[in-house]
Amino acid sequence: MLTGKHILLIIGGGIAAFKSLDLIRRLRERGAVVTPVLTNAGEAFVTPLSVSALAGRKVFRDLFDLTDEAEMGHIQLSRVADLVIVAPATADLMAKMTSGVANDLASTLLLATDTPVMIAPAMNVRMWQHAATQRNLETLRRDGTQVVGPNEGDMACGEFGPGRMAEPMEIIASIEAHLTDGPLSGKRILVTSGPTHEPIDPVRYIANRSSGAQGTAIARGLIALGAEVIFVTGPAEVSPPEGAQVVSVQTAQEMLTAVHAALPVEAGIFAAAVADWRVAGASERKLKKSKDGVPRLEFAENPDILKEVSHLEENRPKLVIGFAAETNDVVDNAVAKWKRKGCDWIVANDVSTGSGVMGGSENTVMLIDKNGVENWPTMPKTDVARRLAERIAQALA
Ligand code: CTP
Repeated sequence: MLTGKHILLIIGGGIAAFKSLDLIRRLRERGAVVTPVLTNAGEAFVTPLSVSALAGRKVFRDLFDLTDEAEMGHIQLSRVADLVIVAPATADLMAKMTSGVANDLASTLLLATDTPVMIAPAMNVRMWQHAATQRNLETLRRDGTQVVGPNEGDMACGEFGPGRMAEPMEIIASIEAHLTDGPLSGKRILVTSGPTHEPIDPVRYIANRSSGAQGTAIARGLIALGAEVIFVTGPAEVSPPEGAQVVSVQTAQEMLTAVHAALPVEAGIFAAAVADWRVAGASERKLKKSKDGVPRLEFAENPDILKEVSHLEENRPKLVIGFAAETNDVVDNAVAKWKRKGCDWIVANDVSTGSGVMGGSENTVMLIDKNGVENWPTMPKTDVARRLAERIAQALA
């Protein structure tokens, strides 16, 4: 619930502005007070009347509106909220925020505020992927701005890819996580999850078996304690957790790039089942059957993401956690893996066929750190995730 929480909502100019109307309604249903600010471009997509009718209050539009200055100065307006949220955050607004431009009400409020700021980017996929926007995104994150979305999918402009604004319920989950005082509030945590797919040709790939359930449950446990979670996921079966900033990748190399882009973080949890090898020189064209026999695949080694992050000299997270799913000699293999990878903790489990872990709802894990091996009792996987999140909170306190 958001009872009594005050949200300053800046609506930028993009087709996703229509979702902001639903966002206002849902925020108010949860007891939040919403003060809306509409940019000039935003007004081209939603009307001031519909915004103020849904918010149940005046919509602020103009920096030089003297009535507003008399009632509430723009500096004061920027300070009254518990959270400033920009939805949709256009490429233009992000660029202004990055460089500190203040030439209209929205950008002036964003420069003047001392309140935490969250943005929900929405733009054409090429604009999102442009080096300038990605640079701005990195700067904004470093400045402490929370980012929710964007999601991948069909876009209003007819293209496909990342750029769709996060859904109102996803934004609300992030707001609730942010405004809920938990032991991980204000802490940025990275979680890798799911398998990676390494292409053989455009239609075939090699991969590890992984549903992404473990990583997703851990991310949920962290979000529930107030963490800001960057969730880098391969093509998983389960939906990503609401309230996380989701980065979708296919290959181990893409996962490594996304992990580097997410740094710095306080903790990194590497739950992904990364393929150890990729096909060297994957074919650009579909391999065809031929009378010369079956194709011969050459493999190349993939980067070991956990090992690489564990050995970073700059930006190494305070806490690096890896996983070891073993089928035999679990303790010996897991302890050896802990040493080899250079991480702080290893969460190990037995995934041999008789253990019932693969596809089952319970898990028996052990936590390995510098103090030795700690055996946890058998419990539902969601409880393993919750307990791990609590341990992480204690370690980062
Ligand atoms: N991992 C990673 N990058 C890789 C391989 C693994 O980040 N290229 C991480 C996994 O996310 C997991 C841990 O390393 O947290 C252990 O993964 P696992 O596949 O069990 O380890 P391997 O290094 O492949 O060891 P082995 O082949 O001996 O089992």
